[in-house]
Amino acid sequence: MNILGLNAFGHDSSVSLLCDEKLIFAVEEERLNRKKHSGEFPLESINQAFKYANLSIEDIDHITFPWNPNISLMMAPIYVLKFWKTLPILLKEKKDFSMEEQLGMINHLQDIKKIPKRIKNIFSDKKTKFKFHCLEHHMCHAASAFYPSGFDEAAILTYDGAGEWSSTLLGQGQGKNIKKIHTVDTPHSLGAPYQAISRFLGFSYGEGPGKLMGLASYGKRDSEEYKKLKQIVYYTENGKFKINMKFFSYHYSRRRRGVSEDFIKLFGDPAEDGTTNWTEKQLNLATAAQQVIEDVCFNLAKYLKEKTKSKNLCLAGGVALNSVTNGLIAKSGMFENIFIQPAAGDSGTSFGSTLLLAHNILKRNVNYIQEDAFLGPKYCEDEIIQEIKASNLNFSKKSFEEIYKQTCDLLMKDKIVAWHQGRMEFGPRALGNRSFLASAFNPEMKNILNKRVKFRESFRPFAAIVLEEDAGKYFDFSQPNPYMLLVYKVKKEYQKIIPSATHVDETVRIQTVNKNENPHMYALLTEFKKKTGHSVIINTSFNIKGEPIVCSPKDSIYSFSRADIDALVIENYISLK
Ligand SMILES: [Fe+2]
Repeated sequence: MNILGLNAFGHDSSVSLLCDEKLIFAVEEERLNRKKHSGEFPLESINQAFKYANLSIEDIDHITFPWNPNISLMMAPIYVLKFWKTLPILLKEKKDFSMEEQLGMINHLQDIKKIPKRIKNIFSDKKTKFKFHCLEHHMCHAASAFYPSGFDEAAILTYDGAGEWSSTLLGQGQGKNIKKIHTVDTPHSLGAPYQAISRFLGFSYGEGPGKLMGLASYGKRDSEEYKKLKQIVYYTENGKFKINMKFFSYHYSRRRRGVSEDFIKLFGDPAEDGTTNWTEKQLNLATAAQQVIEDVCFNLAKYLKEKTKSKNLCLAGGVALNSVTNGLIAKSGMFENIFIQPAAGDSGTSFGSTLLLAHNILKRNVNYIQEDAFLGPKYCEDEIIQEIKASNLNFSKKSFEEIYKQTCDLLMKDKIVAWHQGRMEFGPRALGNRSFLASAFNPEMKNILNKRVKFRESFRPFAAIVLEEDAGKYFDFSQPNPYMLLVYKVKKEYQKIIPSATHVDETVRIQTVNKNENPHMYALLTEFKKKTGHSVIINTSFNIKGEPIVCSPKDSIYSFSRADIDALVIENYISLK
């Protein structure tokens, strides 16, 4: 049985392929069409999935889509009754909604229904037999976290901007079933106000929440801004929360950065777009936004613990990419085990939709456990050689042992190494297969990386990668974190040793690596430890400003040629500048 999962039309379009009870391939369309957060129909991803699995549309039994237009249509009258005052603005601006999480899908309900026809037209020379299923968005997020977790039973928490109607789902997974405990429904949402405040602070849509999380370390906790904001975004009781909608406009307009005049009266004028020069009040607002999200998420997790008595927690949805909040929940010890879907944002819903159909609806015996996030395309040696020849760059072929040694020598000389290995990651983080690597020892490395390659705002921290067995030596938490979804505190005695990996608030977003998940990265870090006594290096995504993470050898060579990088490693080929 072959199930093809598609996500499209909102943002982070993707494709996942479940073949004979195993999730064998998943990719985001942005990596292939090279448009960041692309919400286009994922045709290139479909073709890559077929290429990888050696299948065609004729072999597909089911196609799943993680959005059910019928739920949106059913709820429309309630929305109209509740928000009739702002309806004229919504209708006027509707055509401009694109990536707006809360609103963007309104324009695509018909497109979703037409997907089967569209696919049949694209592959008109082939016979098709697939059945098409539109599945509830948050159930797909929930499935993406519970089914691949390997837990027989778990509490499940999913939160994002909004699905068809719900923005948050609290549930429990048991065997093949996911039972909803309850949902919190739009416009009450954790992702949408966080997004709106990030835009109020001058960040762009899509990129804003991640940057806001980094900026939040620069403001004061428990400030006046926090006291005001916690009256607006707050936990109520019994696993629910509320947003005072008087202060937001994200549920009807995209032109006002998602906040209302009342919000501006309370917090002052918005920051200029793209600014890096915030007032103290604005920095405190960034911290306050992070703090209220932490408060609510922590209480939701606590409620779930009381309700389910489970020792396991599964997280997904865009808010589950908030690694600071995840770290708080993990370190509280309220759950013994936590699984966070590495593609926690909407790209992961194509993945979840295939598993939801297989387990919950078709009741198939699927025993898939996700062991890593390397589910994307891989390129064979012939393809690599072809790109090397076309590039006019000098590459040398070496043994992997020589590659590890030479890369370590380069890192020790403060060189930046672009590292391309095996299958690409599925999800927003580079986990050591499409990464820039650099030394964490040099306090200037953050500035060097920003100046030469990343061109990021200087307040944003860089993530680091560490051998799993050494995590407890450097950080305040030793649990494995293979998907870079938890923030740890750097122990005092190591803050001066790995300064470029230590953020202003003494934390670091860390990725732990063991031999099974990523043998090449494990070997590289082991060699680095042999040479330096330490197994921590900076790991940041292999992309140049404004572009998605590289996918193919061609993308890697193109980025290497254009950027100020010292070396490019593709498998066991190396090129030096
Ligand atoms: Fe979502």
